Amino acid sequence: MQDKLENYSLSLKHLAVVMDGNGRWAQERGLPRNLGHEQGVESLKNLVRNCTEMGIGFLTVFAFSSENWARSKSEINFLMTLFVRTINNELTKLDNQGVRLTFVGDKYGLPKSLINTMNVSETKTRSNKGLKLNICFNYGGKWDIVQGIKNLIKNDPDLLKNYNSLTEEIFSKHLSLSESPSPDLFIRTGGEKRLSNFLLWDLAYTELYFTDTFWPDFNENHLKMAVDFYYSRKRKFGGTSETNNLIETPEEKRQVVKCGN
Ligand code: IPE
Ligand code: IPE
Ligand code: MG
Repeated sequence: MQDKLENYSLSLKHLAVVMDGNGRWAQERGLPRNLGHEQGVESLKNLVRNCTEMGIGFLTVFAFSSENWARSKSEINFLMTLFVRTINNELTKLDNQGVRLTFVGDKYGLPKSLINTMNVSETKTRSNKGLKLNICFNYGGKWDIVQGIKNLIKNDPDLLKNYNSLTEEIFSKHLSLSESPSPDLFIRTGGEKRLSNFLLWDLAYTELYFTDTFWPDFNENHLKMAVDFYYSRKRKFGGTSETNNLIETPEEKRQVVKCGN
C-alpha cells in the first residue's frame, strides 16, 4: 500500500460516496441513531481534507436521498438541522480551503433555512478553484434523469422537432453533475451492495467499491484501501487491455475512430 497521500493523485479525478451505516454504528454502541449522524459529519470533514491533500478534483457525497423521507419525522428533522448547522459552522473553513460547494437534488419542499444555507454557501464559494464538493441532498438518480429531460425540453425546444440529433453528450449536459467528469471511483460504506438510487447515469463506468465499515468509522486508512482497489483495476471501457493502454474513455476512443476515417 502506498503511504503518502500525494502519491494517490494519478488519474482519480472524481470520487463518489454513499455514506451509509450511521444508524447501525450508533445502535451497536447503545446510542441514539442521531449520534451516528453527528459522528458521520466528522468522517465527512476528514474525507474532504483527505481529498484535498490527494489532489482529487471532485467529491460527490450522498447526504439525503429522495427515499429518506420514509424515516421518522424526528430523524428527518434532525438531519435537516444537522445539515444547516454543519454547513454554517464549516463554511469559512471550506472557503479558506478553496472548496467549491454545490448542492445537488430537488430543493422543492425543503425548509427555507436549508435552501438559504445552500444558496449562501454556493454563492460564497462559487469562484473557488480547489475541490468541487457536490452534496446530494433530497437527491435520487431517477429524479435527476427526469429533471434532465425537463431541462432539455425547456432550454432546447428545437430538439423536440429534431429529436434524432439528441446524443448522450447533449443530454448529459442537462443532468445535475454536468460540470463534473464521471466518477472514477464509487465507495459505499455500511455493508449494503446497492446504489439506492444514487447517480444512476453518472456511474455507468465507475469502479465500484463496497466496505462493511460504518461511515462514522471511515478514516484515511479506509480511503487508502479504496484507492488502492481503484488503482488495481484495469479500466477497459468495453475495449481490451491492449486497446485501452492509451485511450482512457469511450468519448476519446470515438474521437480517435472519427479522426481515422
Ligand atoms: C446513512 O446512514 C445516513 C443517511 C441515510 C442520512 P443510515 O442512517 O442509513 O445508517 P444505517 O444504514 O441505518 O445504519
Ligand atoms: C443511502 O442510504 C442514502 C444515503 C446514504 C444518504 P440508505 O440507508 O437510505 O439506503 P437503503 O435504504 O439501505 O437502500
Ligand atoms: Mg442506511
